[in-house]
Amino acid sequence: MRLLTDINDYDLKNARVLVRVDYNVPLENGKIEDDTRIKASLDTINYLREKGAKVILLSHLGRPDGKPDSKFSLLPITKHLESLLNHPISFAPDILSKETEKMVGDMDNGDVLILENLRFYLEEEANDEEFAKKIAPLGNIYVNDAFSVSHRAHASVDAVPKLMDSYAGFQLRKEVEALSKVTKNPKTPVVAIIGGKKVSDKIRVLENMLKFVDVILVGGGSADVFLAGEGYNIGKSFAEEDWEEFSDNLMYEAEQKGIQVLIPDDVFVVKEAKENAPKILKDVADLEDDDIIVDIGVETIEKFIEPIKFAGTIVWNGPLGYFEIGGDRGNHAIAKAVAESGAYSVIGGGETISSIPENLKENFSYISTAGGATLDFLAGERLPGVEAVS
Ligand code: 3PG
Repeated sequence: MRLLTDINDYDLKNARVLVRVDYNVPLENGKIEDDTRIKASLDTINYLREKGAKVILLSHLGRPDGKPDSKFSLLPITKHLESLLNHPISFAPDILSKETEKMVGDMDNGDVLILENLRFYLEEEANDEEFAKKIAPLGNIYVNDAFSVSHRAHASVDAVPKLMDSYAGFQLRKEVEALSKVTKNPKTPVVAIIGGKKVSDKIRVLENMLKFVDVILVGGGSADVFLAGEGYNIGKSFAEEDWEEFSDNLMYEAEQKGIQVLIPDDVFVVKEAKENAPKILKDVADLEDDDIIVDIGVETIEKFIEPIKFAGTIVWNGPLGYFEIGGDRGNHAIAKAVAESGAYSVIGGGETISSIPENLKENFSYISTAGGATLDFLAGERLPGVEAVS
């Protein structure tokens, strides 16, 4: 693993610290539905404040397409953060204005200022250097504590840290260390659980996983493609076209390397994709043209649990069933098995996390706050935000 620059190495007293956080959280009518990412940034913010720094927070929220839009304002987040920190926070509505410069100049040690959504400027996503040159002077140093956006070469993630001394925040460090335990010298055997609707999202991950896993369990919509690739009729189940060849190739490559790829033997199907539709258990060879696969079956659950019991490391991305309409039996059984396994276990991706019963979550070794960044990391790709503080 690359060595991340350590924030403890800098004398923080009086320093103005630009901290990239990821406050891209789900909001419903201005109400925060899940504040995990906000809470995850508290360690770094509190540490900086305790050391006498002035903390200037940078974040994006949603995809406002380069123009101000009150729907995507960070103001509601500011209020919430204020209550979590139990300290007043200033809010700068116009990042590049004289007022913002003045607000920064007026900050006392331990103060926190949050700048409005960076994506109100097109230059943010364009990784524009001139934009970065206007933001960088607001701080003396930069800290990236936003692993979940570190796969984006955006100005606040890439161009800004290139202009100043840059350090890794505690949350970013935690994420990188947790995921590195899976990809670099993991405790073996390594079991990967792959689900989710689209296998195309996971293609690079699966290919890279062949370098470090021993067993791959495939469920959810991703499994439909593999079943179709094996020649089974998957009825009206969702399966991306043209991916069957990919599944064939992957199966072949895995076999050459002695890696087991397990796909369902039986599945629960419905005739109509709606909540409470009656689920019928079927062997994968017996599907009819109007069947829709919504979950892995009873035998498949047993088959998947076997390698989990003996795993040294488990990494999980993507739900194993159509859990929104009740296809969650497989997911719950597998989550329980992972929780009881004693393996080092990491799960990532918002959907995967919400598909796992709350009471089991504390038994996982690490739950990543990131989606796309986790996938890119597992795919062995370079993350600009991590490189910038390495
Ligand atoms: C995320 O939620 O995964 C990050 O905040 C990145 O957001 P984006 O996909 O809009 O770049």
